[in-house]
Amino acid sequence: MHCLVPKDYIWSKLHAADYHPDTQGIVARIETARKNPSEYSLIQFWSKHLNEDLVVSGKDVLEIGHGGGWYLAEMIDAGSRKVFGLEISAELNLRASQALAQTGYSNFQLVTGSGSDLSALRGSTFDFIYANTVVQHLSTQTLAKYLRDISGLLNDKGLCVLQVLQTQSSSSRKRFSRSDLFSVAYTTSEFNSLLLKYGFSLKDYAEIKYGGKDDYWGLYVFNRTL
Ligand SMILES: C[S@@+](CC[C@H](N)C(=O)[O-])C[C@H]1O[C@@H](n2cnc3c(N)ncnc32)[C@H](O)[C@@H]1O
Repeated sequence: MHCLVPKDYIWSKLHAADYHPDTQGIVARIETARKNPSEYSLIQFWSKHLNEDLVVSGKDVLEIGHGGGWYLAEMIDAGSRKVFGLEISAELNLRASQALAQTGYSNFQLVTGSGSDLSALRGSTFDFIYANTVVQHLSTQTLAKYLRDISGLLNDKGLCVLQVLQTQSSSSRKRFSRSDLFSVAYTTSEFNSLLLKYGFSLKDYAEIKYGGKDDYWGLYVFNRTL
């Protein structure tokens, strides 16, 4: 028999088992990152791989799957105007909001999503939407709804950056599985087709190797095709 477990149930169990740090652990990470931006900055890391500067100053930004919210802190420090985070986990949003408040941040909003789409954000728009190591946790059906919703949330000249697990195997595994939400991988041509299907134009792309033989991260930068 095929048994479907709600996605937020899996994540609430994982976060209860401290998949991410507790509030004080998040505080420590935010403080360490502030002192060592060259080691911890996501924008610097992505800009280095893309060979172009990603600018978030003055932008309205949304992070999907922000975890402890450490990169939201970076966006606020970098001068972003409106800073939103959407998580599947209410527990993690509680920890992240406590940690951000304890480290002196107030200009942020954390939203708990259903895990199936981004409807919790309807009515908002953003100049910069990003997700770091989250897409591999989405089934292809869920990713399709996220891309559809990103299209509605992104301003005309807005940019989206997704770091996506890639595989060189043309018979790429797991992406049609409803049960494996940890390593959903795409070939570059599969992911490019999805972007096209949901009305996006690819602006930049980089590969980030991390030691796996067949798998690596693909960094996709795209905007809405106008
Ligand atoms: C590997 S962690 C990455 C956290 C953060 N982006 C970072 O780079 O540190 C994946 C995060 O995605 C969240 N997540 C998983 N499925 C999600 C979904 N369907 N929608 C939004 N967030 C999700 C998890 O709760 C977890 O915090």
